[in-house]
Amino acid sequence: MTNILVTGGAGYIGSHACKALKAAGYTPVTFDNLVTGWQDAVRFGPFEQGDLLDLARLEEVFARWQPAAVMHFAALSQVGESMQQPGTYWRNNVQGSLNLIEAAAASGCRQFVFSSTCATYGDQDNVVLDENSEQHPINAYGASKRAIEDILRDFDAAHGLNHVIFRYFNVAGADPDGEVGEFHRPETHLVPLLLDAIDGKRDALTIFGTDYDTPDGTCIRDYVHVCDLVDAHVLGLKWLESGKGSRVFNLGTGTGFSVREVMDHSRTVTNRPVPFNEGDRRPGDCTRLVSGSTRAEAELGWKPTRSTMETMIADAWRWHQNGHYDK
Ligand code: UFG
Repeated sequence: MTNILVTGGAGYIGSHACKALKAAGYTPVTFDNLVTGWQDAVRFGPFEQGDLLDLARLEEVFARWQPAAVMHFAALSQVGESMQQPGTYWRNNVQGSLNLIEAAAASGCRQFVFSSTCATYGDQDNVVLDENSEQHPINAYGASKRAIEDILRDFDAAHGLNHVIFRYFNVAGADPDGEVGEFHRPETHLVPLLLDAIDGKRDALTIFGTDYDTPDGTCIRDYVHVCDLVDAHVLGLKWLESGKGSRVFNLGTGTGFSVREVMDHSRTVTNRPVPFNEGDRRPGDCTRLVSGSTRAEAELGWKPTRSTMETMIADAWRWHQNGHYDK
């Protein structure tokens, strides 16, 4: 079986990717420092605990498993936190990724799938965001991911490191089998926070800003189901295996939902009220982030099947009620 090194494989998206990789016949080898991930979420292949800032440990793991490809999910990923601790984001995300990319290149691994983000585009109101859109990140998180994209291009030119860059829009939902799901401590993402408010685990959801230039005054995002997202990663791997070279793909559905619309759908799906209050804007938030690209569908053959808002919330709600991890 072909080994794939999955950094962040104990996290939300990485654990779903490991499940999809195993189902596709690969062996996902998780590399994770367990700072935000959960050992309990490593269910589909071997586990190597380690930190991307530890180059010697990375070299050891590459030597042991000889991965044919890397899927790189590990990162700090909170927009708000990145505005308060930019140094932490630059060090962990950029230095950590540079170590990983150098270790991959040195080991002879030439295939790399990278989790980037629509946050690299920044605030470009009324602009259709496709892969050729300009990138002007407005938060340190987006800036750190953009820098890693640049590093990958340089390593491709110098060392032939073929890569697929996926720029995610907002990821939601959970494995419908309930084996893995979204579990952050602390939680900062809209859908799990909403569900916490609905079932009384927190008093209320605070809407971050109601004076944006959108129809209902709240921010608009493009939500994609985590299972659809990781399916695209397996297709990205096959793209690299077939020698098609480096490519960037947006992963979104092209439909935007405001915070209030997500709340409305959650009320309908769970059949319960959503306690909420209205608060100030969160620094670093863009007004509207919606993908305007169908490149992943056209070129990778990606077909999202679970990314309706109802299915994403229903899957997240099922996991929310039944699933959790222990360290
Ligand atoms: N929001 C609230 N209240 C909350 C939490 C979020 O109103 O308590 C709002 C935010 O202001 C934003 C929307 O809900 O408008 C979504 O916020 P999330 O924190 O769930 O997601 P972000 O858009 O900030 O960021 C997420 C990921 C990033 C990724 C980005 C791309 O965390 O890794 O999507 O938009 F890059």
